[in-house]
Amino acid sequence: MDGNGRWAKARWLPRAAGHRAGVSVLTPLLEAAGEAGVEALTLYAFSTENWGRPETEVDSLMTLFLETAKGKVPELNERGARLRFLGRRGHLPEAVRTAMGEAEELTRENDRLHVYIALNYGGRAEIVDAARRMMEDGLSPEEVDEATFASYLYAPEVPEVDLVIRTSGELRISNFLLWQIAYAEFYVTETLWPDFSPEEFRRAIDSYAARSRRRGGG
Ligand code: IPE
Ligand code: MG
Repeated sequence: MDGNGRWAKARWLPRAAGHRAGVSVLTPLLEAAGEAGVEALTLYAFSTENWGRPETEVDSLMTLFLETAKGKVPELNERGARLRFLGRRGHLPEAVRTAMGEAEELTRENDRLHVYIALNYGGRAEIVDAARRMMEDGLSPEEVDEATFASYLYAPEVPEVDLVIRTSGELRISNFLLWQIAYAEFYVTETLWPDFSPEEFRRAIDSYAARSRRRGGG
């Protein structure tokens, strides 16, 4: 979900206003995803590198996560979405962690759309955490293959990523789901996140559907 800062700057608004505008995209987007038959969707909300931003911005983001959880979780629950979080929970403020736990608990029986929020998430951190837990479990080298490794990721049940959508024209991965995107297709748009619409989401899906995926098979 990139481009909130640029969206705000173009309007002479503070960055926090851009993040706030970015939240309003979520409901129409998730509705469109449900209609399009998407089974699982991951939103990259905050990376392990985002702590390097000015403290005021980090604080405003944490406040926004809490407000958004209060406002959107009941709504998502009614629409049958199951919510889960990916990332290192330890460093997040207590109130945010509590809200995350409550959202997961409330929506655990839902099955219409699986929504993952990557919060304090880093792809490398996820791989390191998986390796650590395998060592804690005392796995021998022979037991570690790709399937075993995948079963130690934050959400082993999540299907492999089919499509990555990147807004604001950036042509990089930025530490997103490094393991899971091995064969993902890409859709990059210049649109800044607060302007990302259900129509554009459908264009991305159509673009994906028109491609032939060979997965290295030739
Ligand atoms: C992405 O928007 C939102 C978060 C990282 C939370 P940015 O804040 O990165 O927006 P730009 O890149 O400055 O436009
Ligand atoms: Mg950015």
